[in-house]
Amino acid sequence: MTESPATLEVAVLGAGTVGSQVIRLLEEQADDFAARAGARIRVVSVLVRHPDAPRDVEIDPALLTTDAATAIDGRDLVVELIGGIEPARTYVLRALSQGISVVTGNKALLAAHGPELYEAAADSGADLYYEAAVAGAVPVVYGLRESLAGDRITRVIGIVNGTTNFILDAMATTGAGYEQALFRAQELGYAEADPTADVDGLDAAAKCAILASLAFHTRVGIDDVEVEGIRSITAEDMSEASFFTQTIKLLAIAERRVGEDGREGVAVRVHPALLPTDHPLASVAGAYNAILVEGEAAGRLMFYGQGAGGAPTASAVLSDLVAAASHRVHGGHAPRESVYAHLPILDPGSARTRYQMRLRVEDRLGVLSDVASIFARHGVSIQSVHQRDGRGPGQAVIVIATHVAREADLRAVAHALSQSPAVREVASTIRIESDDPRSVVPAAD
Ligand code: HSE
Repeated sequence: MTESPATLEVAVLGAGTVGSQVIRLLEEQADDFAARAGARIRVVSVLVRHPDAPRDVEIDPALLTTDAATAIDGRDLVVELIGGIEPARTYVLRALSQGISVVTGNKALLAAHGPELYEAAADSGADLYYEAAVAGAVPVVYGLRESLAGDRITRVIGIVNGTTNFILDAMATTGAGYEQALFRAQELGYAEADPTADVDGLDAAAKCAILASLAFHTRVGIDDVEVEGIRSITAEDMSEASFFTQTIKLLAIAERRVGEDGREGVAVRVHPALLPTDHPLASVAGAYNAILVEGEAAGRLMFYGQGAGGAPTASAVLSDLVAAASHRVHGGHAPRESVYAHLPILDPGSARTRYQMRLRVEDRLGVLSDVASIFARHGVSIQSVHQRDGRGPGQAVIVIATHVAREADLRAVAHALSQSPAVREVASTIRIESDDPRSVVPAAD
């Protein structure tokens, strides 16, 4: 038996908001980490682009380096917090190929190159951990990968992007429009100057792919995820939602279901959805994250907490680091990639859900019948219709909620409506996420 190392050397790649907190907490709680891992965990190198840049936490300048080989080679453990694909991928592979266990918070890298990283880790016997890649401090990766390894997961549905949740929550609670709420999120540091990855749903899509892979033991990449962001959500959509005792959230949804060919597959999508206000995800406020996991045996579980930020994300990184360190000391390794189920990815057009559509129409004889016949022609069944006066004389607004329908059929309905002389505008089409058809009854009824 090899002798246990008294100290494990760690390289931290990236000393931004999260990296700085990892370094601070490792130093401040060094004795606790040593007791939990069975060896002292010491940061010996910190890879940065600009050694002189101002940082949240003071770091010993002797640890800083701009050279990846100097930072990584020969260490016991590597923490990758650079983000993005390159050079992060090259650095992680460099570490794994040397048998160095890696803890990463890089969702984009995992969603695009997860299999390659897992393979490199398995080849060299290193661990690959990534709790921080999904929902910050919320232990949903561990939950799916380990706590729920004894169950058959049917569905994962969650709010996994704090920035968009902050924006939508601000719109719902203040009546602000999208641009105004985005500006507020940027002022408070929740949204980046270029908010694309968050507001267009790409960050959530990467997380959705990771969660789906874990839940369904199947390789799911970011390109498999059907994505729609929140840019098109208006103040009117939000006030309309409130009228129907609903709110709008950006959801990541991964489910195992039978496809149109009768075979079981995985459906993965990210889109805004209407939720009744009594839905467990509806009350998730501000920049918080929450994920509902449905297991055949366990039933419904909810994971909730801070999905971003330096210290919360550092908490997830450090738990992975303790696990990887403990394996170095006591033996054992992290769970390997589990893809035995090899389920096919289902066509997004075959997705079945409910929809709410808001139309501006001429308020004249026969319009409702014209509209209803378009739904019927495409096999989409209407669940409820609510009409009220429109903006001008002779105009009306009709809000139609459907029963469960195929995505492709609904698209055909929306197209046909937009061509119909009865309809001035299809103002919005938003999916409804609820098992309860009463969720589209107006609040006043
Ligand atoms: N930008 C992400 C969010 C945090 O807003 O949730 C990191 O994934």
